[in-house]
Amino acid sequence: MAIEIPTALPDSLLSRLSDFLESQVGLHFPKERWRDLERGIAAASREAGYAEAEAYIRWLLTAPLTRTQIEGLASHLTVGETYFFREKRSLDILEQQILPELLRTRAQTEKHLRIWSAGCCTGEEPYSIAMLLDRLIPDLEKWNVTILATDINPQFLRKAAHGVYGAWSFRDTPGWLRERYFTRRQDGRFEIQPRIQRMVTFSYLNLAEDAYPSLVNSTNAMDVILCRNVLMYFAQERARKVVDKLHRSLVDGGWLITSPVETSIVLFSAFTAVEFPGAFLYRKMAATAPRTVANRHPVPWYDGEAAAATPAPAEPSAAAAFGVARSAFAPEVLHEAGDELATEAKDADSREHDEREMPRRKARACADEGRLAEAIGWCEMAIAADKLNPAHYYLLAVICQEQGQSETAERSLGRALYLEPDFALAHFALGNLCLSGGRRGEARRHFGNALNLLRACPADALLPEADGLSAGRLVEIIASAQASLPRAHKELAV
Ligand SMILES: C[S@@+](CC[C@H](N)C(=O)[O-])C[C@H]1O[C@@H](n2cnc3c(N)ncnc32)[C@H](O)[C@@H]1O
Repeated sequence: MAIEIPTALPDSLLSRLSDFLESQVGLHFPKERWRDLERGIAAASREAGYAEAEAYIRWLLTAPLTRTQIEGLASHLTVGETYFFREKRSLDILEQQILPELLRTRAQTEKHLRIWSAGCCTGEEPYSIAMLLDRLIPDLEKWNVTILATDINPQFLRKAAHGVYGAWSFRDTPGWLRERYFTRRQDGRFEIQPRIQRMVTFSYLNLAEDAYPSLVNSTNAMDVILCRNVLMYFAQERARKVVDKLHRSLVDGGWLITSPVETSIVLFSAFTAVEFPGAFLYRKMAATAPRTVANRHPVPWYDGEAAAATPAPAEPSAAAAFGVARSAFAPEVLHEAGDELATEAKDADSREHDEREMPRRKARACADEGRLAEAIGWCEMAIAADKLNPAHYYLLAVICQEQGQSETAERSLGRALYLEPDFALAHFALGNLCLSGGRRGEARRHFGNALNLLRACPADALLPEADGLSAGRLVEIIASAQASLPRAHKELAV
């Protein structure tokens, strides 16, 4: 029988705190984990300068948290348990079955691959994927491979980007792997090879709160998402929402890999569960595809509902793209004709607006589904129809960047900024582009421009083209990127 260790803080306070953290941060602390909660909150209160944890909690409960406070709390309340090639069975399936099939298909079309480690902790998981790809793809330099690694804990992310590990991170890893991909330092720790380090992009993302899928944070059109040992820390309703968003972040046919202990019929019902020897993996099937995949093994319990995938957009049609309905009414005629005509004109204007926006909407839809060449086609149509719209150039740039066409992306961002010098998101994207090209000075300048513009806006103002991202949130993203990079990528530091 489990012995319940009494907590030092009153139950009623811990209960209010855990509800508050669930709603504000997305972190779930059921009663069995109140000891962990107490420990974490005591550390957070010391850091905030409080002598008593209770006073700190009461202060926390008085108002909604800012992002910085959320990040600070997450540093103390999240579990940093991970190691290289953890839960090797799933990674073997990825290496031996899923990736070879994906690579075969993509070798014929666009040589690109997008993988997301959601809840990457200190980086062992995404770096394991990078090593695995390095072994699997002989002509890696010809591929456009994205490994996005995100977490809510900025301290974990800093350690991840630093890429230096102790022996404990290799507790279930064959020795040769450490020899091949790491350099032993004088202090006895192991530094990951820069080549592997460069394959992974680390970024802050709160799975419970932030927007995804989104082109802005590159969480769209993923082929594989690993979200392992993360969902177990969410309350069920929260986990359901997260899984739904992860589903939307995958391309049709994409895979979600969770931990074996997180297997659930209910939670993953939008996916098709595929049973491999020793593991279930979850696959997003196109709405039109048959419900059950040719499973490696039958999945007797699965009776899931149809996947909620959006139907594939039709092929681009120039006629549709350029069919802009001009309003037949000049303003003076409207004035005379009265309200009825004015309403009709408004309708026509809004139709015109809708039709003008249509190619860009199609471009976004294609990009969300990973059909990047098609998305670029739609962007070009949008530009041809409306040459002075900076949003079209911005979208073209982020899609080109995803395709690895950084020069075109940079040119397009330049055009967006020529048309709209106050386009903060374009400055930010240009900063990222410069950074990934090792041009730190230029990156610093663009980030600085973005910060100046953003700080002049109300923090909660939503940015155009940003999928619900607010000015304040982008300030924090840029600031935290700037703060973490000098210690992270020496050669890329801003
Ligand atoms: C136990 S670790 C798992 C690491 C790795 N995926 C693995 O399986 O080895 C859980 C990670 O989830 C992260 N996490 C917890 N809540 C999160 C949230 N709301 N958004 C993003 N990451 C979160 C924690 O910071 C921690 O790094």
